[in-house]
Amino acid sequence: MSASNSRTARSAGDPIPEQFRHLRINIEFLLSKNDRIQTIAVTSSKRGEGRTTAARYLAMAYAQSGKRTLLVDADLRSPSLHSFFSGAYSPGLSEYLSKQCGSRDAIAATRIDNLDLIKAGPTPPNSSELLTSPEMEQLLSELKQKYDMVIIDCSPLGYIDGKVLAAKCDGAVLVLEYGKVSRDTAQRVNEELGQLQVKLLGTVLNKCKDARALMA
Ligand SMILES: Nc1ncnc2c1ncn2[C@@H]1O[C@H](COP(=O)(O)OP(=O)(O)OP(=O)(O)O)[C@@H](O)[C@H]1O
Ligand SMILES: [Mg+2]
Repeated sequence: MSASNSRTARSAGDPIPEQFRHLRINIEFLLSKNDRIQTIAVTSSKRGEGRTTAARYLAMAYAQSGKRTLLVDADLRSPSLHSFFSGAYSPGLSEYLSKQCGSRDAIAATRIDNLDLIKAGPTPPNSSELLTSPEMEQLLSELKQKYDMVIIDCSPLGYIDGKVLAAKCDGAVLVLEYGKVSRDTAQRVNEELGQLQVKLLGTVLNKCKDARALMA
């Protein structure tokens, strides 16, 4: 699918662009009855393609559809989800993974019905180690008990943790920036996801001015 969004305001309450509501519906529609998808990694080929935007709107679309939804900022090197959700201080993912708090402490409610958030927390020196640790895997299975859907804003696939997290989730959404990613890169990323045995749920052709152009 393609997505364009002229809004840049840092507000979690802004309307969900139609394309992201359609992305959620597409994902549900394409899944067979036996597919149980509860964790979705949002990834991209490089920085700045729109992973955070896509993760945020996709999580909002799931929450709006009545699913208990958790949004996780796992881009520990360059976190940004916290800036869209104001609220009291709460520890984040890096603090949980470095055993400074429990998982419950890291989960913060948002003002959006059905939507909770785990912020990234302070940037650690060892992001890859933390995100590829058994604690992260354990957290994912714990969160699956609590939520219908967990949407994870990951690092791009160039980072090892971006790859490992995409592989550990039930599926992934790939965000590619329209006009900036070559056909060869898109193909290479697609092959890489295949080698990692990632279930690709959809590709967002982001920042596309022609909303008619469809990709997945
Ligand atoms: N569909 C869109 N239309 C217009 N601008 C967009 C769109 N998606 C994202 N942007 C803008 O592009 C910039 C990068 O988006 P975003 O932060 O979501 O990307 P990212 O992949 O998470 O970046 P990073 O790699 O730095 O984490 C932001 O200023 C955002 O507002
Ligand atoms: Mg981001």
